[in-house]
Amino acid sequence: MALLHILRYPDERLHTVASLVPQVDDKIRQLIKDMAETMYAAPGVGLAATQVDVHKRVIVIDVSETRDQLKAFINPELVATNGESDFEEGCLSVPGIFEKVRRAERITVRALDTEGKPFTLQADGLLAVCIQHEMDHLEGKVFVEYLSRLKQQRILKKLKKQDQRAPAPEGARRAVL
Ligand code: NI
Repeated sequence: MALLHILRYPDERLHTVASLVPQVDDKIRQLIKDMAETMYAAPGVGLAATQVDVHKRVIVIDVSETRDQLKAFINPELVATNGESDFEEGCLSVPGIFEKVRRAERITVRALDTEGKPFTLQADGLLAVCIQHEMDHLEGKVFVEYLSRLKQQRILKKLKKQDQRAPAPEGARRAVL
């Protein structure tokens, strides 16, 4: 296992569109293990391979309080979306920034598991937010890009001022995805 380096916005590599995983093999399973370790250590509730500069369609998520319900999605696809809801999101690639984003309230996602078997999952609440946020990363999109140009400029300024080694604030009841 290894901790991976997380790219920080506005790193251009975060805008890379990830490619499909042709085969779920040991290399992909190792990537998932390393991504999970990196996500738990950060700490965050989700991480996309894009954020660790691996441009493959892989995401890991754990929204449980107990931090022992790891979910991995390989080649995820949204097959249905319903409703709308606003949620205050953060991102390990945009430390210290939290903004409301409107997304689908309920989703159905199809993906491959770590054995390469397809599965379908229905999600709502934080899990639905997280899946959509991480899938955006695979398309090269960072959540702050949903905000107004003015807000994005303010965020860029704030990030430049931040000490690059400073951790994200602890204890916020908001999700770092
Ligand atoms: Ni993120």
